[in-house]
Amino acid sequence: MYASTVPMDSSKLVLLLSFFYILLHQPSLTAAQPKFNNYNCNNVGNYTTNSTYQRNLNSLLSSLASDTQIDYGFYNLSVGEFPDRVNAIALCRGDVAVDVCRSCVNDSTHKILEVCPNKMEAFGVYELCMIRYSNRSIFGVVNEQPSIYRANRKNVLDVTLFNQALQTLFSRLQAKAASGNSLKKFATGNQSAGVETVYAIVQCTPDLYEGQCSSCLLDVFRLIPNCCDGNVQGKIGVRLITPSCNLRWETGQFFNGTLEILPSPPPSQISSPTSLPAAAQGKKSNTARIIVITVVPAVGVMILVICICLFIRTRKQREKERVESKY
Ligand SMILES: *[C@@H]1O[C@H](CO)[C@@H](O)[C@H](O)[C@H]1NC(C)=O
Ligand SMILES: *[C@@H]1O[C@H](CO)[C@@H](O)[C@H](O)[C@H]1NC(C)=O
Ligand SMILES: *[C@@H]1O[C@H](CO)[C@@H](O)[C@H](O)[C@H]1NC(C)=O
Ligand SMILES: *[C@@H]1O[C@H](CO)[C@@H](O)[C@H](O)[C@H]1NC(C)=O
Ligand SMILES: *[C@@H]1O[C@H](CO)[C@@H](O)[C@H](O)[C@H]1NC(C)=O
Ligand SMILES: *[C@@H]1O[C@H](CO)[C@@H](O)[C@H](O)[C@H]1NC(C)=O
Ligand SMILES: *[C@@H]1O[C@H](CO)[C@@H](O)[C@H](O)[C@H]1NC(C)=O
Repeated sequence: MYASTVPMDSSKLVLLLSFFYILLHQPSLTAAQPKFNNYNCNNVGNYTTNSTYQRNLNSLLSSLASDTQIDYGFYNLSVGEFPDRVNAIALCRGDVAVDVCRSCVNDSTHKILEVCPNKMEAFGVYELCMIRYSNRSIFGVVNEQPSIYRANRKNVLDVTLFNQALQTLFSRLQAKAASGNSLKKFATGNQSAGVETVYAIVQCTPDLYEGQCSSCLLDVFRLIPNCCDGNVQGKIGVRLITPSCNLRWETGQFFNGTLEILPSPPPSQISSPTSLPAAAQGKKSNTARIIVITVVPAVGVMILVICICLFIRTRKQREKERVESKY
């Protein structure tokens, strides 16, 4: 009986050890550079290395990355003269803190060159900011292509009820965002849908007029029933993104209420418990990888040590038992 249990235990240990070996040496865990959620390199044309266009683009992107003046989350810059003029827009989600926004925009200026090398026009999307550049004039122009979606696979409990709530909420938010000023066109809100609650944000680039923003959002909203192979309607979390406007909903709060709902919160409310989950979730996309990199090996080593200790203890226990049974 004793003899048969020992090989089983050691094979379990070997299995565990190989599991931790794989965990600790997984190559993807070493890559710390944040990836775009989505990007699109428009194939209208390529610029050549060392061209004027490339120099203009590099200079424009580094201006975006190092800007410390803009604190409203919208960047619109141009560099150079036709035909080498480059125009760029970067937009942070309307509820993110200025330091979070700047670091997101900085990341995006590096990433866009990496994922779209030598492209005349490109568009990259992070969770908290997006960037695009083009040789075309893009300011004050509605651009609904490419339209990108991301959707949770889970369904809401009651699609009819949920869609009614979404429609009500959207109408309110669309009007609110469109009537924003030239620095920000953004709105957040929530609406109860039976036992569930829908939380949503809508946003336009603020270089658009009210009517342009409104119609861009409406076009995006109208996509819901028919688009995306039915992967959007009735889902608990959806993002619909175009260069000029975007829309997102979830069944839990995901935006930073402290910034938008209370424009100038008294110091005591900044760290109120209700604001913490939203703040933590908003930052997740930027820090998740870093947490995985530093925490997983530490936890892995800890579990490994515990396993070895337990293994040694059970062995000693068994030895003791064996010794005892001899008598
Ligand atoms: C932008 O670049 C593409 C490709 O080189 C070219 O076809 C297009 O005419 C350019 N547009 C402008 C406005 O310069
Ligand atoms: C740009 O370059 C890519 C390969 O680097 C090529 O596939 C594509 O056809 C080029 N586009 C144009 C418009 O020349
Ligand atoms: C671009 O310029 C750099 C430095 O001036 C040079 O080393 C490099 O060979 C050039 N590349 C091309 C493709 O012309
Ligand atoms: C932007 O990011 C790069 C690395 O990706 C970093 O070296 C640089 O200091 C950052 N710049 C600013 C202004 O934060
Ligand atoms: C949410 O707001 C708090 C307080 O202003 C801020 O510290 C935090 O960085 C914000 N979260 C994001 C994702 O910007
Ligand atoms: C950039 O945006 C600001 C704020 O919306 C606006 O005042 C300015 O005219 C814009 N610049 C260009 C070049 O469109
Ligand atoms: C939900 O909406 C109500 C009013 O529409 C607002 O008072 C409340 O602060 C919102 N809650 C959140 C978490 O956004």
